[in-house]
Amino acid sequence: MRATSFAALLLLLPTLSATAASTVSEDTGPPPALEPGKAPPLPQQGPLAEPRSSNQVGFPAALTASAIPPASPLTPAAVALGEKLFFDGRLSDDGTVACATCHDPARAFTDGRPVSIGIHGRAGQRNAPTVLNALYNKTQFWDGRVDTLEQQAALPITNPFEMGSSSIAAAVSRIAGDKDYQVQFMQAFGRDVNEQDLLRAIATYERTLASFDSPFDHFIAGDAGAISDSAKRGWELFNTKARCNLCHALADNKRDVTVFTDNDFHNIGIGILRHHVGPLAQQAERELAQGRLPDVDAAAIASEMSVLGRFLITKRQSDIAAFKTPDLRNILVTGPYFHDGSMQTLWDAVDHYNKGDGRADPWLDEDIQPLAMTEAEIDDLVAFLASLTSSPYKEAGDHEYARQLALSRVDRPQRDTARAFGPKPSQPKPPPPF
Ligand code: HEC
Ligand code: HEC
Repeated sequence: MRATSFAALLLLLPTLSATAASTVSEDTGPPPALEPGKAPPLPQQGPLAEPRSSNQVGFPAALTASAIPPASPLTPAAVALGEKLFFDGRLSDDGTVACATCHDPARAFTDGRPVSIGIHGRAGQRNAPTVLNALYNKTQFWDGRVDTLEQQAALPITNPFEMGSSSIAAAVSRIAGDKDYQVQFMQAFGRDVNEQDLLRAIATYERTLASFDSPFDHFIAGDAGAISDSAKRGWELFNTKARCNLCHALADNKRDVTVFTDNDFHNIGIGILRHHVGPLAQQAERELAQGRLPDVDAAAIASEMSVLGRFLITKRQSDIAAFKTPDLRNILVTGPYFHDGSMQTLWDAVDHYNKGDGRADPWLDEDIQPLAMTEAEIDDLVAFLASLTSSPYKEAGDHEYARQLALSRVDRPQRDTARAFGPKPSQPKPPPPF
């Protein structure tokens, strides 16, 4: 039965239960400085890597069941194999980089860097999103270039800036002789080590990383004291004056307490002004004419064309610099923010929206406009966002909130109060087609 597969799994696996998890403390701090030419160190597997329990306040049982393909149930053998692969540097060309390098459980499955650093210390163009709740994404990556977690997992293994393997087959051949893997693949899928099952195991593990049980979930479940009055005001603002729900909710007219995304793509004015978009779009049309996925992946991770976002896939002008609306769960502990990691704090993110950024951006989404929010309202909105932190990350979240708050009192690079309280500027017209 699909609907019970998640729950059934939990009887069999040593899952990280919500209560046990809140006692987990792993000191994070800023990501370690790197030696030139070297990948970041491989993180420890640790208790935060364990599959999550369905016994979490706010856990969406039906949605979760619908996100698990019937052909890939969450069997304990497949999950354990996927977890091991997720931490295995041998999937990379020189053994130094695993999925966990950039999706570290102790950092809520991110790397804490503005943009990710992979094999031989190569820096990409994009910020690593969390893998928590990625099972609910309708598309994967900031530009949605693939749909499934299986398709997603194949790309970093061969991307020259990430894990640098010459092919998935080459990665398979590096582990195929390992006796433990031979036994585990057989147990999980009844076959020898092979490409398809390797990707399937990783995706299956990721589908166990459902992350709810935040103070906000307790509040929605009826515990009025679970979040502060400030966070309550923030939740109201989110759905009204601040207009966040126009994109961070499934529908405009119904409050969404689950995944905080419309599964769509928007240009909200991040990064676009630093680039000459016209020539880049022409370059993309030339170089990606055949639409080969590895070419798109290379452009997104390792070239200046990365800024074109969804355009890389659709080649529609209206998709220039449009990116996927991300889920906002655990946002406090998954900074820095946006597809390019260009903002340090949630105050910066809210300042960006408050001024209705993108005056010179002809493709700016029409729902982005000045919000006229006061400083107190900005604090409330941030308090709400902070209440979306799942219990295993409570301690990390408290530290991060204090750090960001302190920073926001001395440095607000995105704040522009005059624009926030000014009229909606007239938007420049898009240029003629390239
Ligand atoms: C060198 C760092 C790095 C490595 C290694 C890496 N990733 Fe990522 N991951 C990223 C970045 C950066 C993105 C966003 C890229 C983009 O959107 O173009 C991403 C995106 C994702 C996403 C999409 C999430 C979303 O919300 O759209 C998933 C899932 C994911 N990675 C899982 C994996 C898995 C599984 C592996 C190992 C097979 C892996 N990653 C290896 C950096 C990395
Ligand atoms: C027009 C649609 C839209 C509206 C309205 C909107 N967002 Fe977003 N949001 C997005 C998109 C798209 C991104 C990713 C953009 C990027 O990285 O270039 C994003 C990213 C974010 C991020 C960074 C996420 C991360 O993982 O780095 C935060 C935080 C955020 N939004 C909060 C808010 C808040 C708070 C509001 C209301 C004040 C809001 N958003 C309104 C579409 C929207």
